Amino acid sequence: MIRFEGVSKRFPGASAPAVENLDLLVPEGTTCVLIGPSGCGKSTTLRMVNRLIDPDAGRITVAGRDVTAADPIALRRGIGYVLQGIGLFPHRSVARNVATVPELLGWPKGRIAERVDAMLDLVGLEPATYRDRRPDALSGGQRQRVGVARALAADPPVLLMDEPFGAVDPVARGRLQAEIGAILRRLGKTVLIVTHDIDEAMLMGDSVALMRGGRLVQADAPQALLAAPADDFVAAFVGQDRALRRLALLTVSKVAEPGEAMGEPEIAAEASLRDALSTMLARGCTRLAVTGVPRILTLDAIREAGALVKVEPR
Ligand SMILES: Nc1ncnc2c1ncn2[C@@H]1O[C@H](COP(=O)(O)OP(=O)(O)O)[C@@H](O)[C@H]1O
Ligand SMILES: [Mg+2]
Repeated sequence: MIRFEGVSKRFPGASAPAVENLDLLVPEGTTCVLIGPSGCGKSTTLRMVNRLIDPDAGRITVAGRDVTAADPIALRRGIGYVLQGIGLFPHRSVARNVATVPELLGWPKGRIAERVDAMLDLVGLEPATYRDRRPDALSGGQRQRVGVARALAADPPVLLMDEPFGAVDPVARGRLQAEIGAILRRLGKTVLIVTHDIDEAMLMGDSVALMRGGRLVQADAPQALLAAPADDFVAAFVGQDRALRRLALLTVSKVAEPGEAMGEPEIAAEASLRDALSTMLARGCTRLAVTGVPRILTLDAIREAGALVKVEPR
């Protein structure tokens, strides 16, 4: 768990605080995405957690412990940190990069080698192919996978990621976001991610915290943010196509109703409503049968679920 209580930071000589009176809770085992315009204080917020920056006021606790009372070096060993693009040691092999923290912790060689291979497997890089490569022999996406493997190597309970996929091309990015998001959820890590990519926020966040000018504007589940933006700024930030985004976050099983199939095309219970809508459009029908169960999904039900497009702020 990461908790911010009344946290403020003003850099020397700055006319306004970079972060002002921030209250935010990231529950154990969940991912929170910090999003907002450039300069709104996202990275400063993140870097106060591992004490690369110290707050002027307020309290930050990780797993109940005040970070300002911790030794910064020991603290950082328990917190994985992933940065955009940079961050890998260019003259070290992939394996040595991943082994950085276990080496610092003095793990025996055999255990480190095992751990490196397990981590490379985890992030989808075949160990035999990649462990001896240098970072410059990898694509941008592969480098970010190594960055995640390195951050997870000593099994820290908390992970901080600052625009982790910012340097990855858009095609690889979507896959990375989905894959890494699933891995972090499966491992039960508590994660704080900074991004300016609203799709990344929606895909990876259990909660999304939108900042503006150093202040928190709204923190909520992605669905809630899309359905009920707190003000015009949030509404504008989450974008015009938020009905479609919302449909992508809802599964067929959530809205299908009891009913017997009568030859309708089938849709999987775990498919998204966005996929269901595409299927209806492609097949020219307004009803789908849910595979394997006596339930029917109708266009009206999708419409109702998507009607969350509120124009006026709450
Ligand atoms: N080390 C620093 N020294 C002085 N000002 C800084 C420093 N880091 C960030 N700032 C300023 O603090 C504000 C917030 O920056 P930052 O947290 O990096 O924003 P974001 O990550 O949302 O783009 C900006 O105005 C930025 O210029
Ligand atoms: Mg930043």
